[in-house]
Amino acid sequence: MADTNNSTANNLEAAFGGESMANRKYLFFADVAKKLGNSELSKLFRETAAQETEHAFAHFRLLYPELDITDPDSLSEEQKKTVLGRCLELAIEGETYEYTTMYPGFEAQARRDLDSQAEAEFAEQTVESKEHAGLFRRAAHNFGLLTPIEHHHADRYNAALQALEGGGAVGLAAEPIAGQWICKVCSMIYDPEAGDPDSGIAPGTPFEAIPDDWVCPICGARKSSFVPYRPVDLNAS
Ligand SMILES: [Fe+2]
Ligand SMILES: [Fe+2]
Repeated sequence: MADTNNSTANNLEAAFGGESMANRKYLFFADVAKKLGNSELSKLFRETAAQETEHAFAHFRLLYPELDITDPDSLSEEQKKTVLGRCLELAIEGETYEYTTMYPGFEAQARRDLDSQAEAEFAEQTVESKEHAGLFRRAAHNFGLLTPIEHHHADRYNAALQALEGGGAVGLAAEPIAGQWICKVCSMIYDPEAGDPDSGIAPGTPFEAIPDDWVCPICGARKSSFVPYRPVDLNAS
């Protein structure tokens, strides 16, 4: 952004983050209220969530005025391409940070916390420390699972950017990666080598041998929501 001093730019970033988070939090609460049979409260959370999205968008327009499209018909094809390319670049930047830095760092931290928790548990044997250890283990596992998912997202955006720049069509590899399956809902990739020990699936278990009542460890989708994993093919045409 151009004409605003740095602290206001930082505040806009923070406000965008806060409103974005409020949006997802309220959708989560709406789901809780719905599950508990309170449809009125669920509706209130959903309506407010929609308003938080508008607040977040208002901040984002100020952060990236070049992406604020008010009169699409006035733009040349070249200008449209520039705007879309910028969106893809920002998306790639975010996903790349997540899979190269954020999730690997978070996973390492959760494993360190797990180790120190294990020592405390050994000393105290409290229920609480066992619960904490369980949470840290789950968090480390989820962070580890999310790393290849974000890599997959970055690949998809990279392929779309390449296509936008005239580098062929966005495609998936013709052949799936042997043994790996991907969740259609959240893109979690099941790797038989790793299994899903937290859900009782031992490393080395082929996907076909997993019981039918197993669910995606990230999003809870059923086993039938998985398809053979075909990675993004950056050279598809
Ligand atoms: Fe992502
Ligand atoms: Fe999933």
